[in-house]
Amino acid sequence: MRFLVLGGAGYIGSHFVKQALAKGNEVIVIDNLQTGHKDALNAKAIFYQGDIRDKSFLKAVFSNHKIDVCVHFAANSLVGESMEKPLLYFDNNVYGTIVLLDTMLEFGVKRIVFSSSAAVYGIQKEMPITESALTTPANPYGESKLMMEKIMKWSDVAQGMRYVSLRYFNVAGAASDASIGEDHRPETHLIPIVLQVPLGKRENVTIYGNDYDSPDGTCVRDYIHIDDLIRAHLLAADYLIGDNPSDIFNLGSQSGYTNLEILQVARKVTGHPIPMQFGPRRKGDPDKLVASNKKAGEILGWRPENDLETIIGSAWAYHRSHPQGYKE
Ligand code: UFG
Repeated sequence: MRFLVLGGAGYIGSHFVKQALAKGNEVIVIDNLQTGHKDALNAKAIFYQGDIRDKSFLKAVFSNHKIDVCVHFAANSLVGESMEKPLLYFDNNVYGTIVLLDTMLEFGVKRIVFSSSAAVYGIQKEMPITESALTTPANPYGESKLMMEKIMKWSDVAQGMRYVSLRYFNVAGAASDASIGEDHRPETHLIPIVLQVPLGKRENVTIYGNDYDSPDGTCVRDYIHIDDLIRAHLLAADYLIGDNPSDIFNLGSQSGYTNLEILQVARKVTGHPIPMQFGPRRKGDPDKLVASNKKAGEILGWRPENDLETIIGSAWAYHRSHPQGYKE
């Protein structure tokens, strides 16, 4: 299969590129390198540096390659930043997707695997969360992902643009050979922050809030190994190639862990005491986010294979071998 990967130099995109190439596919990558890393790019992929909002740039890439499936990761993805700069999120994420879909239609490419987020759900009472739950995003990032899903839906109704939207829960870990991993700047995610302590890059971890409605008072999240997550994208591409209808799937493990449980597993994996302190709640954090992954199991045949210890172990292997992250 020939994939065009938008945002292929980012954390999730680069892992997709690696797995897709390993399975013998051809991969073309577009990335503006705003948050992606040149070093994360696989040498076997054909790379174009540019922005998805740039129509003439996109047209040039589509003219050069006959694409089977687009896999769309190119987006700004920090919840906190989106609360401060909502227009940036609607411009890059939503407008960028419109330009991409428009170009795809112009070139007759009508299959897209889309990187969505649990952030479309906002705060929910019922756990695990199913795909039919009411979507009430609590921040512009989640709203932008929901808008992108709706834009794809109407492009399908009107023009036959078939899509699979994958709503990720908490993605973590790194490729099993530790060649690529997670390197966000600034880092805001719990697991890489926790691992900065045994790496000697910070003294301790602040856990935001201990008065949530959970067994130990800290937030509950559903962690999914990056390799399991990527496998679902390849299954989604096969599903689209098989002429199946557009659909939306949660990608999570269906098990929730509190922030303190994450800390405990990280202590076990690293052998470091990882001191912690409690801080105030972080704005906009839901108490609990746990996915129902039943639908992805039934329709895509996808099941996560890696447990939390393997997830944190793989992240640790990456960070230990790349203590400064990517070069640039
Ligand atoms: N946390 C801490 N201390 C830290 C960092 C995080 O206590 O230094 C806590 C957070 O408050 C939260 C939990 O760890 O309770 C997980 O936080 P992350 O930032 O790692 O992940 P989120 O659950 O906030 O975000 C994830 C994805 C987003 C997505 C969101 C949906 O990373 O892309 O879920 O709600 F939008």
